[in-house]
Amino acid sequence: MSEPTGAARRRGPFKVGDQVQLTDPKGRHYTFTLEAGKNFHTHKGSFPHDELIGAPEGSVVRTTGNVAYLALRPLLPDYVLSMPRGAAVVYPKDAGQILAFADIFPGARVVEAGVGSGALSTFLLRAIGEQGMLHSYERREDFAEIAQQNVERYFGSPHPAWQLTVGDLQDNLSDTDVDRVVLDMLAPWECLDAVSKALVPGGILCAYVATTTQLSRTVESIREIGCFAEPQPWESMIRNWHVEGLAVRPDHRMIGHTGFLVTARRLADGVEPPVRRRRPSKGAYGEDYDGPGSRSGSAAGRD
Ligand SMILES: C[S@@+](CC[C@H](N)C(=O)[O-])C[C@H]1O[C@@H](n2cnc3c(N)ncnc32)[C@H](O)[C@@H]1O
Repeated sequence: MSEPTGAARRRGPFKVGDQVQLTDPKGRHYTFTLEAGKNFHTHKGSFPHDELIGAPEGSVVRTTGNVAYLALRPLLPDYVLSMPRGAAVVYPKDAGQILAFADIFPGARVVEAGVGSGALSTFLLRAIGEQGMLHSYERREDFAEIAQQNVERYFGSPHPAWQLTVGDLQDNLSDTDVDRVVLDMLAPWECLDAVSKALVPGGILCAYVATTTQLSRTVESIREIGCFAEPQPWESMIRNWHVEGLAVRPDHRMIGHTGFLVTARRLADGVEPPVRRRRPSKGAYGEDYDGPGSRSGSAAGRD
């Protein structure tokens, strides 16, 4: 059986064309591609790439200035945070949440928009594999090009399950029998009509938005369209820890905010969403509330 796309680049001794992530004694990272006969230069001397070619991952190389660097392949979270960007990328912690809670499975038929820099596309392709289908839509041609290069550099070749279309999702979405739709854009509510036609019954819509106003409008619009079960909104935070002897405590710094996620399951055609038993909080839909359709796409956030 042949190896899954890109798997050969993720294991075994270092080869020409592999990406290498060096870590210096201060924990700083440097990423480069291995080329025979080349040197890697630092401000503390250099070393030949040939020293790493054929060496196992986790090797330590020394520069001519006698500084030691640990050499490993970048993991996908490292890769997406260091690759060239057009638009802001989905943070790896959120990509992990999307893979888990949007239930992305091998062989799934997935639609995604926008593509931005291709970070989420890469996570999705790894999860669905060759037997799946990922159709990604991006309105900006320049971003689509950057994404295509980032995805192909990661896998080492075009991924057979990936199709990339330049254009607005709501005007171009032609896929049917789609299992999962993931939206990372300023105004996901503009795509709900098209998305609801594409999704299979039981399929999942997952939206990633940056601000509370976007979250509110997304959730209320999903309720209003009427063909989804009750949407589930959440956010996640990761707090790293400092663990050293008796000094065991949370790190002083953390990434406080990336975005909000919301998922909703597509109902079968012709089915009314079950009436919610819970009464809305007092004032939730009071006189100041004027419905999802009344606000402009005002939120400054992920575009
Ligand atoms: C925050 S970026 C997406 C980042 C991407 N998920 C990643 O991980 O690299 C949002 C992208 O959505 C695109 N976009 C916004 N609305 C769109 C729409 N209706 N259809 C297609 N693309 C859209 C923007 O051009 C932008 O590139």
